[in-house]
Amino acid sequence: MSPLVIAIDGPSGSGKGTLARGLADRYNFAVLDTGLIYRALGSRLLRLGWDFTSEDFAVQAAQGLTQEDLDNPDNRLDTVALAASRVATFSRVRAVLDQYQRDFSKAPPGGKTGAILDGRDIGTVICPDAPVKLYLVAEDTIRAKRRFEELQSRGIKGIYADVLDDIRARDKRDKERKTSPLCPAKDALILDTSGLTSKEVLSWACNIIESSPAFKARHKA
Ligand code: DC
Repeated sequence: MSPLVIAIDGPSGSGKGTLARGLADRYNFAVLDTGLIYRALGSRLLRLGWDFTSEDFAVQAAQGLTQEDLDNPDNRLDTVALAASRVATFSRVRAVLDQYQRDFSKAPPGGKTGAILDGRDIGTVICPDAPVKLYLVAEDTIRAKRRFEELQSRGIKGIYADVLDDIRARDKRDKERKTSPLCPAKDALILDTSGLTSKEVLSWACNIIESSPAFKARHKA
């Protein structure tokens, strides 16, 4: 039986990553943070002195992406997130990165029986046939507060107003780009996580997953 694919999309700070990891633990599924791939590319491009406009240069860098790029601790920086959001607007760059994500969903590592992918276009473009599609939203001020606290817990200095500005700039770019813009798939279930704990979000998702025909078919008593 093919792996059960769970697509989670939404803007930065909406709780996708926490939910994806929680679900992966719960069901022993493989998880792919697709934003990390874009961040790794953004970080590599910043190091190479990219001019933010050359698509050919960005495509070449995407083709040469390595595990070392993915493991780079700089990937968590907000400057890198903004570069990621900018390079993510290029359709030929996305085409290079899309294949890896699709392969992961079809054959998750470790022979896992399910794959959870979180990002911006998983339900719409990468895995349009995923039987479970979740889309998380939250007020931007709350997302900025979460992000700010995360930075502080990592010992990274930042200013809340700057974090909020960055989130708004990224939201706008991710939603307005022509290729694979951030938006819910028609069959996605949407949750506003603004006033919810991560436990409540996990419980909402588990209810949806466990009542889906795809999950039931794989867990017949
Ligand atoms: O999820 P994140 O905040 O780490 O993502 C960083 C940027 O990467 C985001 O602003 C847009 C881009 N991205 C994308 O375009 N498509 C994805 N599937 C994931 C991320």
